[in-house]
Amino acid sequence: MSEDNLPPPVPHRRRPRYQGKNPRRFEEKYKEHGGDPETMAKVIAAGKTPVGTHRPIMVAEILEALAPQPGDIAVDCTLGYGGHAQEMLAKILPGGKLLGLDADPMELPKTEARLRALGFGAEVLTTHRSNFAGLPQVLAAQEIAGADLILADLGVSSMQIDDPARGFSVKHNGPLDMRMNPQRGQSAAALLEKIEPDALAGLLLENADEPKALLLGAALAGKSFATTQELAAAIQAALPHVAKADGQLHIRRVFQALRIAVNDEFSALETFLRNLPGCLKPGGRAAILTFHSGEDRRVKKSFDANFRSGVYSEISGEVLRATAEEQRSNPRSGPAKLRWARRAGG
Ligand SMILES: C[S@@+](CC[C@H](N)C(=O)[O-])C[C@H]1O[C@@H](n2cnc3c(N)ncnc32)[C@H](O)[C@@H]1O
Repeated sequence: MSEDNLPPPVPHRRRPRYQGKNPRRFEEKYKEHGGDPETMAKVIAAGKTPVGTHRPIMVAEILEALAPQPGDIAVDCTLGYGGHAQEMLAKILPGGKLLGLDADPMELPKTEARLRALGFGAEVLTTHRSNFAGLPQVLAAQEIAGADLILADLGVSSMQIDDPARGFSVKHNGPLDMRMNPQRGQSAAALLEKIEPDALAGLLLENADEPKALLLGAALAGKSFATTQELAAAIQAALPHVAKADGQLHIRRVFQALRIAVNDEFSALETFLRNLPGCLKPGGRAAILTFHSGEDRRVKKSFDANFRSGVYSEISGEVLRATAEEQRSNPRSGPAKLRWARRAGG
């Protein structure tokens, strides 16, 4: 190629600059995105989660409940960043195999690549872009009659919350989406535009115990909100007598309720809980980490009923919580509740 027909030079793109000492916005955190070890260590020491990563919660308690052994077949129903999966893989090898499921088509390939780079090949780890409600079908396709251990760590990952483009968080302005799989279903913005006030009030009450459900249902239903911060501002404006700090609690509850509705989270969890005993080998163990009362209530009810009927031979007595130290070092572990169950027989 002569100099005359060389392609035009690619313009140099400047890194986003940030004001002050620490970057605040997602795209400014390029050192965390790039996995700079020194920056990552500083972020973790400050009790935060580096963007693009997720810190696994209650790892020791989960490993104790599931007691993974070499040769076990394990399922991580909510693979996320793969933190729990990595810990389980270390315990089930040699001879074991882990199936990692996740509904998120954007994060799953990144996590698979990360785990492969750590040396976990296709013979020990398979990943499946699937809702965990479809676990029986995933196991059948792999010709697995039952798993030794099954983990579900419910809700959204830090990668999803922290990425403004996913529209989960009020802290970062982004399109009001909230879908774990953006290729399916309707966004939170579309839901709000179509829903009737009474139906929205019911959803706010059922999914987040929102005390101002009626008022907020009337104020928000049928309206168009393009971004997360537009919705947050409308919630605050609908509650003129509520102090700003308390307003944040209402905003968080509305966001939680919409996320649950958009992703049909309760019906997926109920289907999963119904299928769970049939997906375990006799003597197999399941552990479920929940983050709010609507999830924990369903898990407790299902575990109790199956224990009474003899389907499970053992279940966790009291709910288990993250230690004070973990809660200090990773505030996202604060609301976590862990329950486990063991299938009878075996
Ligand atoms: C809290 S994160 C899991 C983090 C993971 N344990 C780790 O160590 O990185 C929850 C993950 O579950 C996924 N998820 C939530 N509901 C799901 C469902 N019904 N089926 C499949 N995946 C789901 C989300 O996309 C997210 O990646």
